[in-house]
Amino acid sequence: MSAQLIDGKKVSSEIRESLKKDIGGLKAKGIDPCLSVVLVGENPASKKYVASKEKTCDELGIKSVPHKLPETTTQEELMSLVDTLNNDRKVHGILIQLPLPKGLDEKAVMNRIAPEKDVDGFGPQSLGRLVLDEAGFLPCTPHGAMKMLEAYGIDPSGKHAVVLGRSVIVGKPLALLLLRKNATVTICHSRTADLKAECLRADILCVAIGKAKFVKGDWIKEGAAVIDIGINVTPEGKIVGDVDFDAARERAGFITPVPGGAGPMTIAMLMYNTVQAAKAAAE
Ligand code: GUN
Repeated sequence: MSAQLIDGKKVSSEIRESLKKDIGGLKAKGIDPCLSVVLVGENPASKKYVASKEKTCDELGIKSVPHKLPETTTQEELMSLVDTLNNDRKVHGILIQLPLPKGLDEKAVMNRIAPEKDVDGFGPQSLGRLVLDEAGFLPCTPHGAMKMLEAYGIDPSGKHAVVLGRSVIVGKPLALLLLRKNATVTICHSRTADLKAECLRADILCVAIGKAKFVKGDWIKEGAAVIDIGINVTPEGKIVGDVDFDAARERAGFITPVPGGAGPMTIAMLMYNTVQAAKAAAE
């Protein structure tokens, strides 16, 4: 058996099409959705991600305002830029691409973003609301993973979901979203005693650890839905996920490709949050 592919490109394009209508409606009311995109330093992967986000903004009619700062930017300068963007009524969302160069305090910067402009959903108010099951900005990658499950009719309720990775921006919020949908959730990490055994129990397996092909084919339960959130570059320059795709595909029921799975969904959900921020500002 070969798993059905979860086509993140297709699902994300449907979301983008629906957002275009919302954006048209906002513009008709004189509101021009606007995302400020802050990139500090020269991290090549970050530059690429930021370029994709700006391109998608252009395609949808969201105004993206770039702030490209040098590696030598100080904490004070960055905090002051965030203050300026917080106070700019024309700016609806603020995206600060992570990681920041060494020496900058990421947490302090994220905490400074006004909660109503926190379209990445990484700030304390957004994450607190997520824990409390209150409406708020959801972190884009976990939200995108949930949207892919939904698009393929995979209902987490009553299922055993295993999340590999406990990062604040992916693993932890994804576990909470799966829990919100009534899955029984296990979070695994580098100290988990027997990762393979845990993975084999997963009806839904979500992997976000940043290690190329770490999850082997024989770690997958027959028929499981596998959401691969890793983006790794091999020494040959190929982009692969955290799951050994070819082997996993033979056992899984559904699987996301890398690229073309979680990546485009993350960007779509960032656009979604930006549109929500613009709508809220309009009210
Ligand atoms: N770095 C890696 N993923 C992300 C993301 O989703 N948002 C931001 N701002 N930085 C990231």
